[in-house]
Amino acid sequence: MASVIPAPVLHLEGDGSFDLTSTSTVGGEPAVAAYLSDVLGLELGNAHPAIELVIGVAPSPGGYTLDVSATGIRIEADTPAALFAGAQTLRQLLPPDQFVGVTTATVPATHIEDYPRFAYRGAMLDVARHFFTVEQVKRYIDDIALLKLNHLHLHLTDDQGWRLAIESWPGLTGIGASTQVNGGGGGFYTQQDYADLVTYAASRFITIVPEIDMPGHTNAAISAYPELGDGAVEPYEGIEVGFSSFAIRSEHTYEFIDDVVREVAALTPGPYLHLGGDESLATTDEDFRYFIGRATAIAAKHGKTLIGWHEMGRSDALPTGTIGQYWSFTTPQEGAAEHTLSFVRQGGRVIMSPADVAYLDIKYDTQSPLGLVWAEGPTSTRSSYGWDPAAIVPGLGEAQLLGVEAPLWTETIVTMEDVESMAFPRIASVAEIGWSAADRPRDWSEFAERLNGFGARLDAAGIRHTPVPPSDAP
Ligand code: ACM
Repeated sequence: MASVIPAPVLHLEGDGSFDLTSTSTVGGEPAVAAYLSDVLGLELGNAHPAIELVIGVAPSPGGYTLDVSATGIRIEADTPAALFAGAQTLRQLLPPDQFVGVTTATVPATHIEDYPRFAYRGAMLDVARHFFTVEQVKRYIDDIALLKLNHLHLHLTDDQGWRLAIESWPGLTGIGASTQVNGGGGGFYTQQDYADLVTYAASRFITIVPEIDMPGHTNAAISAYPELGDGAVEPYEGIEVGFSSFAIRSEHTYEFIDDVVREVAALTPGPYLHLGGDESLATTDEDFRYFIGRATAIAAKHGKTLIGWHEMGRSDALPTGTIGQYWSFTTPQEGAAEHTLSFVRQGGRVIMSPADVAYLDIKYDTQSPLGLVWAEGPTSTRSSYGWDPAAIVPGLGEAQLLGVEAPLWTETIVTMEDVESMAFPRIASVAEIGWSAADRPRDWSEFAERLNGFGARLDAAGIRHTPVPPSDAP
């Protein structure tokens, strides 16, 4: 059986096969046809295409069927996004050396019916600790699209840098963007750059989720506008957390938030805007609750569904439907379960990112040159596959979950090779947990086999990945 990740809901083998060649054509739904024709190096053509992409019925909302028979390859789905998911499955049915360009490929006869477990399947990239260029972020968008991930959360602001131009507060991307961890300068996206990223992501059916973190993680903003905090501060190039805070009792702070959120919301066609709220250790509990109530009320006015890290659930004044993002461990630490359930009580759902299994910046093993270990690290690929999002917080089951996300924090991550070698293969575990059926048995040795096949395809595409070490051997 071909090694598809995430595993499809139903995958049957048939008799015979279909031969694709360099003269085969791709036709049907134009957006997905254009993508497949581009990545496979095949011509577009609607007269009896070898690969036909049809908008029609789906086995379940957001799903697709894929049939390979002696007469051709046909993917049918209810939306272009679901057809795109089917196109990713098709790519993995081809031999590894045909992954980024078809010359000749025998595709075994197959019937697949497939649909996602969760609507939200995400990756996060921290562009604040180290800045990544538009071209690098586009490459990561292409990378995560391979695994049917459909949201890219960009952590745009932190103590070490503010990375998105805000026209009403230009200093943010002056001194506020001039640094990153360990020096070497910083960087930022103009609003045009950012719009370009949003458009590119949409061409891969990925929604960008912008995060403006507050009231902590704000040293960069305060370095540009000292009145937002407790006076002048220097730009910061270290990796400590929890030392900065906005001025909670100053009306100026809330004028700032209104301006920033208005501009970010205007750049964001997607439904979500992330307001952070994590590790606000320099803000008293009373001030934190006051701040979250004010800031979320202002942000909600701009028409977006808010997301916050689970500490935001300390507030019981969240706008109805605010989404929580859980980042404690697979065994919840003090307060984390309670704070997470608070989002559900206030009409929201939850995205699961348990740090000890889903954080991609934790070292793979003690030998890893990159990464950190604070989240019960190292985290092997095997352990990244061995958890279930509906079995972590008591009272938080399938119905309360919006989905899963694999964050990549970049304190030690500098280059695109670093990003890819930390993300792959553990991001494949999180993608499968987010997509494949909840009742599908999770068998490590079977997954490890499929990871081998996926790794060969990553090699063909020139995407770095960390080998699964012998200690993880089935
Ligand atoms: C976090 O890791 N501080 C969300």
